[in-house]
Amino acid sequence: MHGIPRTDEDLAHTYRDFALREAAGRSPAYERLCLGVAADAEVLGLVGALPLAKRQPNLLLGAVRLLGGPVGDYAAFRDWVVAHWAAVREQLLARSTQTNEAARCATLLPVLAALPQPLALIEVGASAGLCLYPDRYRYRYGDRAPLGPAGAPLLECSVDGSVPVPDRLPQVVWRTGIDLNPLDVTDPDDVRWLQSLIWPEHTERRERLTAAAAIAAAEPPLLVRGDLNESLARLAEQAPAEATLVVFHTAVLAYLDAAGVDRFAAQMGELAGRRPGTVWLSNEAPGVVPQVAARLPGEAPPGRFVLAVDGRPVAFTMPHGQGVAWL
Ligand SMILES: C[S@@+](CC[C@H](N)C(=O)[O-])C[C@H]1O[C@@H](n2cnc3c(N)ncnc32)[C@H](O)[C@@H]1O
Repeated sequence: MHGIPRTDEDLAHTYRDFALREAAGRSPAYERLCLGVAADAEVLGLVGALPLAKRQPNLLLGAVRLLGGPVGDYAAFRDWVVAHWAAVREQLLARSTQTNEAARCATLLPVLAALPQPLALIEVGASAGLCLYPDRYRYRYGDRAPLGPAGAPLLECSVDGSVPVPDRLPQVVWRTGIDLNPLDVTDPDDVRWLQSLIWPEHTERRERLTAAAAIAAAEPPLLVRGDLNESLARLAEQAPAEATLVVFHTAVLAYLDAAGVDRFAAQMGELAGRRPGTVWLSNEAPGVVPQVAARLPGEAPPGRFVLAVDGRPVAFTMPHGQGVAWL
């Protein structure tokens, strides 16, 4: 699922699927390269010898770009990968896919702005924490007037259905995150890795990352290193009592197995029992959170995430925050 191979046998399938379902129409370069890998026994052999979690297309392609390898033509790419395999392998083993997309805040904002303020935010799977600054970006929903400080990165979001387009920014008094490997926006090496994870053609996203990283670097968030299921309860205890506690995640739970997702959903129920008013905001691909999938009114449009509040689906969203369709 989402480019993460689940078994030893399906590596060629994973790369072909990624090319046709994820890269097609969004990144001609990655579509071409992944179709090439899917049909290349030698490269599949190298990648297939890595631990399962290290075989993802996004990870391989990001590592090659970090090291300055060619990502245009497949023949040049594969020759370079084979020749530089030791260096590529070292990066693959050391890093993981942690794409941090600030624009996802545009799909969270309609919910965040409507909650009792102020907010205390915990993002699980925060990467570098760029989604912890929904109050610092500028937003334009459809053709509405922009909302947010002039000069801040502008997040453009198409709207469909009766989206409760916010007319105010949320007031965030506490922002924290949990990640297995928190990235540090003040560390140029971490920011370079985040840049390498953005697909080659997506220049605008790279510019947004630079601008959002500067905002976060001016007031870095508190990021806890650890598994979200292990660290959540203790962190939640530290949230200021007068604020609405929001625990949120976007593009994270696909990395957990089914038991991990169930455990997280159960924890959110327990947390809401201990601290009434706590909000669970989930933005994940359909099917990733069974508790949400079971309440979907119909099939999600292809390539969309589901935004859910306390397990109840409220919108389909575009994965990088470019659009929201209210249910
Ligand atoms: C694709 S990134 C998404 C980052 C951010 N939420 C966003 O939308 O921009 C997924 C992040 O989840 C983290 N992650 C995956 N499994 C985790 C776990 N069990 N506990 C904590 N973090 C986890 C990864 O390290 C990575 O930084």
